[in-house]
Amino acid sequence: MRRKAIGIDIGGTGIKAALVDTKKGTLASDRIRIETPEGGEPEAIAEACTRIAEQLDEKGNRAIGICFPAVVKHGHTQSAANVSKRWIGLDAHELFSHSLKRQVHVLNDADAAGVAELNFGAGEGQDGLVIMATLGTGIGTALFYDGKLIPNAELGHLQIDGVDYETRAAYSAMERENLSFEDWAKRLQTYFSHLENLLVPDLIIVGGGISKQSEKFLPLLSLKTPIIPAQTKNSAGIIGAAYLANKALERKR
Ligand code: BGC
Repeated sequence: MRRKAIGIDIGGTGIKAALVDTKKGTLASDRIRIETPEGGEPEAIAEACTRIAEQLDEKGNRAIGICFPAVVKHGHTQSAANVSKRWIGLDAHELFSHSLKRQVHVLNDADAAGVAELNFGAGEGQDGLVIMATLGTGIGTALFYDGKLIPNAELGHLQIDGVDYETRAAYSAMERENLSFEDWAKRLQTYFSHLENLLVPDLIIVGGGISKQSEKFLPLLSLKTPIIPAQTKNSAGIIGAAYLANKALERKR
């Protein structure tokens, strides 16, 4: 089995990427970060990913996993919460494969982050229902049952008090409204209580860049379910995408 693959994590504000050791679930190069092109248009993002891949893989023969902040079904992006609406209904697999001149594996960003955590991080070996929630520009969620991913959960958009709750509880809401950790934690309490009442999970893992400071808000939450920070921090999407891309390539051989 090949060991190294490229993971690219496309977000509403930044695109992050690295070479990944897919056996250890660790980064095998420095992490590259560039700003997401203004407007988040498909061609501009594909072009940016192509440049990043050239930088990380001069020979151009490594598997590439790309994770994206949208529902991704059979390679098609079906929503677009923090990027251009032109992604809705787009064959993203075709767009990226054409631009990068090889088959790529495209999936939802929270699903990729969850895969990294379940295989190499805080959820390793955890049975039952695990929810991974990433707190960033939006709220991404991934569901796992006995370690198996149930893709495209999209629970960040739960309606609570008549609003799409990611607009209130994502990390971007905290930044936008200048909330203290205590005030933000009140919103997270509402969100995670709702989630645990609906799904009764065995474990909740919290990821996204802000999970590096989890000690400032997770202890403020009072839930029935254990809630713990992700271990792969904000490289989770990169690691999960590369891991799955490598697996998909091996299956084809
Ligand atoms: C999108 C999800 C994504 C999440 C995190 C949400 O707005 O609907 O698909 O996983 O943001 O980026």
